[in-house]
Amino acid sequence: MNDHLRRYIELQAPATCCLLSHPKQRLAQPTVLELTEEARPMTTKNINLTVNGNAHSVDVEPRLLLVHLLRDILGLTGTHLGCDTSSCGACTILVNGKSLKSCTMFAVQADGEEITTVEGLASDGKYHAVQQGFWEEHGLQCGYCTPGMMISAIQLLERNSDPDDQQIRTAIRGNLCRCTGYHNIVNAIKFAAKVKQETGA
Ligand code: FES
Ligand code: FES
Repeated sequence: MNDHLRRYIELQAPATCCLLSHPKQRLAQPTVLELTEEARPMTTKNINLTVNGNAHSVDVEPRLLLVHLLRDILGLTGTHLGCDTSSCGACTILVNGKSLKSCTMFAVQADGEEITTVEGLASDGKYHAVQQGFWEEHGLQCGYCTPGMMISAIQLLERNSDPDDQQIRTAIRGNLCRCTGYHNIVNAIKFAAKVKQETGA
């Protein structure tokens, strides 16, 4: 219990007791207790974060999920919401370079962090190697899983520059695709690995 809440209860308790035992006094002297600014329930918190290289300062409710901050407040709808329960991987982003399902994190937990979404992958007008791979190998059909799938692929290639098919399938096991059967996705990631090796990117 914080000091402000304790103080509020200390103020409240004798007043309530007094009102119960002396109903006339309640009518004559209504007790009005004002919560101090600090004791009021917090409805929003200001956070500062960097998304795709851009600094943002935002007031958010403590219960807001990071995926909703990205999509609904910052307008970065490339990060998809599939299940909201940490199962599908459509909402996968990079937080300080590590892949993470953004429906599993509150926005307030991203205070001070550096985030990359699918919108931040291309640079200087050129696709990221993983985007090239998905383009060249047609690694998608409806595209709903694709942003999250590409982020997981980036994380894999950071750790393993030349993964085999099984290693790729293991790395993307947290990302579900209802369309492709995964075959072209695996080829897309192998294509990206080759591009990265050739270009040193
Ligand atoms: Fe986050 Fe499905 S929306 S894992
Ligand atoms: Fe449709 Fe993967 S391309 S869910």
